[in-house]
Amino acid sequence: MLVFTNKNKIDTYISSLKREGNKIGFVPTMGALHEGHLSLIKEGLLSNNVMVVSIFVNPTQFDNVADLDKYPRTLEADIKLLETFSENIVIYAPSVDDIYEGDIKSQSFSFDGLEFEMEGRFRKGHFDGVGTIVKRLFEIIKPDNAYFGEKDFQQLAIIKKLVEKHQLPVIVVGCKIHRETSGLAMSSRNVRLKPEYSLSAPFIYKTLQTAQKKFGTKSATVVTKWVEKQFAKHDLLKLEYFIIADVDTLKTVIRKNKNRNYRAFIAVYADDIRLIDNIALN
Ligand code: PAJ
Repeated sequence: MLVFTNKNKIDTYISSLKREGNKIGFVPTMGALHEGHLSLIKEGLLSNNVMVVSIFVNPTQFDNVADLDKYPRTLEADIKLLETFSENIVIYAPSVDDIYEGDIKSQSFSFDGLEFEMEGRFRKGHFDGVGTIVKRLFEIIKPDNAYFGEKDFQQLAIIKKLVEKHQLPVIVVGCKIHRETSGLAMSSRNVRLKPEYSLSAPFIYKTLQTAQKKFGTKSATVVTKWVEKQFAKHDLLKLEYFIIADVDTLKTVIRKNKNRNYRAFIAVYADDIRLIDNIALN
């Protein structure tokens, strides 16, 4: 398996693949790979000859130094996993310096307001960091198609906006959320959950599913209050937010309109580990 750590070297390699007529798919990740990541790569292998997977814990998207320090880093295991998964994968695992060249700063972006909702409200500067790294990676890899999970639905919407506003020559494909059999959305952070929190965490998706049913007959406010109450009663999980939002604007719904599509978004602390999830409502 080819593992590149240098942007010029991978650029030269990908240029030669493209000259030979290969379609390049791309899955950016922060590593600690799990089946959720693999599901994106699998989807990409259906319509690309080569899948590039980047593994880079991007410092500029963390609003909290402790979270950045504690983020799991398992490069060797990640490489092994990808090796057994497919031979049509190329890895780009750069150093911070290869990407930021000594200037670890985000660019400022406008994503037409998408960046001020939910994750943007609770994690200051997060989407400037995500926009900075993804734009840079797109410029290095120059993929035909790039795959992002609906697990981070707001991120997916923001990347689509980034591509549209900057006219980047890449097709962004959204992929379904991959879950544990318990319903818990797969996440690199799940491995850090202590056993009692691991047992409690599936409560998040169960609550989302009930909220989805309730939304059929009840208002967004009633459903939101109900979810808040369930977490207030929970001993271990702490709700940061539950929001029902319009899928296009990501703005919190005030009054339901039957012509619009809505999604429920949730962020929960299990001990010091922050978990997010979401579900389509109609
Ligand atoms: P990371 O959290 O590693 O996720 C990489 C990609 O995998 C994202 O598109 C994410 O939505 C997707 N993903 C994670 N868990 C998933 C699941 N359970 N089901 C489906 N897809 C899932 O998201 C990032 O990294 C970073 O912000 C990044 C885009 C790499 C920029 O640094």
